[in-house]
Amino acid sequence: MQDSWEALERECAACRECALHQTRKNVVFGVGNPQAEIMLVGEGPGANEDATGIPFVGRAGQLLDDMLAIIGLNRDNVYICNIVKCRPPGNRDPLNVEQDACIGYLRRQMALIQPKILVCLGRIAAMRLIDDKFRITRDHGQWYDVGGIRMTAIYHPAALLRDPGRRPETFDDLKSIEREVIRICTRTELSRPWLV
Ligand code: URA
Repeated sequence: MQDSWEALERECAACRECALHQTRKNVVFGVGNPQAEIMLVGEGPGANEDATGIPFVGRAGQLLDDMLAIIGLNRDNVYICNIVKCRPPGNRDPLNVEQDACIGYLRRQMALIQPKILVCLGRIAAMRLIDDKFRITRDHGQWYDVGGIRMTAIYHPAALLRDPGRRPETFDDLKSIEREVIRICTRTELSRPWLV
């Protein structure tokens, strides 16, 4: 049967596949444009996301919005979600069993969106979606073809808040993403008011 956003979101809202459902306030499904050509995948909701049900709304989320704005993107022309949809208590990394329980929902989101470009935000998403041996310090900014999707990973915005010394490398990675968007995306309009 053909999948639909309604069915998928309903299933996620009722999910009890792992122990995270016991402590969640909200399932954090995803935000942005379901027709986007660009998808960004983080690791898992934090406290602010758990409270609101929206990905990347805390300080890391504000930085992510600023990073997207640098290359003319925003929440209207990308889709943002996470490897796990419920908050791991105390902001710990999601366990493998939790990722395994949740990854099917992300795969279905990817199948519905069919992104041209997928940007992993941080190590957890890169190890899950690109390569389980991915090392973010070594491999960030590289491009990979995975199942017909151009994938790359950049430092997680929370890591950039902790270690601003990594921002120059991330700026280069963002410019590389911008070039790839211009090269292969056909429907994405970059908003660059400074060029007008
Ligand atoms: N960090 C993530 O990886 N995802 C969010 O939604 C918020 C913070």
